Amino acid sequence: MKKVLVTGVAGFIASKTAEFLLQDGVEVVGIDNMNDYYDVNLKNLRLKSISTHPKFKFQKIDIEDKEALKKLFEEHQFDVVFNLAARAGVRYSMENPDIYMSTNAQGTLNLLECMRAKSVKKFVLASTSSLYAGQPMPFKEELPVNTPISPYAATKKAAEVMSYTYHYLYQIDVSVVRYFTVYGPAGRPDMSPFIFADKILKGEELPVFGDGTQARDFTYVDDIARGTILAAKPLGYEIINLGGGNNPYTLLQMIALMEKYSGKKARLKLSAKVAADMDVTWADITKAKTLLGWEAKVGFEEGIKKLVEWQSRSF
Ligand SMILES: NC(=O)c1ccc[n+]([C@@H]2O[C@H](COP(=O)([O-])OP(=O)(O)OC[C@H]3O[C@@H](n4cnc5c(N)ncnc54)[C@H](O)[C@@H]3O)[C@@H](O)[C@H]2O)c1
Repeated sequence: MKKVLVTGVAGFIASKTAEFLLQDGVEVVGIDNMNDYYDVNLKNLRLKSISTHPKFKFQKIDIEDKEALKKLFEEHQFDVVFNLAARAGVRYSMENPDIYMSTNAQGTLNLLECMRAKSVKKFVLASTSSLYAGQPMPFKEELPVNTPISPYAATKKAAEVMSYTYHYLYQIDVSVVRYFTVYGPAGRPDMSPFIFADKILKGEELPVFGDGTQARDFTYVDDIARGTILAAKPLGYEIINLGGGNNPYTLLQMIALMEKYSGKKARLKLSAKVAADMDVTWADITKAKTLLGWEAKVGFEEGIKKLVEWQSRSF
């Protein structure tokens, strides 16, 4: 792996993935459309932390823009494409399903088309635990995930199956990595770990959908970035869970840890559960261990401590 494309590089997970790739000596071309779904200053901040690296190049490109992508693939011969660009929030996908379809499904197809044209061999696609809604836990990759309960999950499924088609027809080697609730410093401001830490630090009420007993197999961002890079090896076509792999933690347990490390008391404001939200997620990570030699290293308490420390410095 000498030269790679990382899409959505100003994002939470892709910026960390790019950072680790650069540390490993890989040349990284990163693209992002820098949309304002959340604070663009945070995207700029993440970009700033990697942009001084001599082997990093950034271009503001939308993966929905076929012509811009074609030009990019003419300029660079990539060994691997990491597609992490996406519209990623579950709840917002109910408000604006169209942009989820055009970025997550059509954008992925655009990349696959460019890869086919330029004989790029390896595709790593970020996908989601949201696909497992309604399935027995811990979630295994071979479960049928044909009944997604949010437009977000449905468009990720579309991206997964289109990638399979391009693997079958054009021998593109594909790793689909299904992430389980990723958290850590410089995280996504629309996700509960960021929102809760932020509100506790500011002494504001925490908006909790449901009663706080929903649970997630939270996974620290550094672990996810490492797993994503390991998934760039040739595998044929594989779907691989990247999750904490422990018993899931509830939102209330997460809040208690945030109180401990911020030294502040949380005030909860409970409201109705959102239909598109899952109650619990829990990854079976046997496949990640076997195929990639990967498992999460950062424990939940340690990870939450780092997140709270980062957010305390930011305000
Ligand atoms: N964070 C999680 O818990 C989680 C869980 C499961 C899956 N994922 C997936 O991981 C990937 C990264 O997620 P994240 O949490 O870092 O989200 P993020 O929103 O921080 O990062 C996504 C980036 O993609 C960019 N982007 C969006 N549409 C684009 C387009 N059309 N063209 C170019 N760039 C575009 C955004 O500007 C953003 O910087 C996504 O594919 C997401 O679906 C994340």
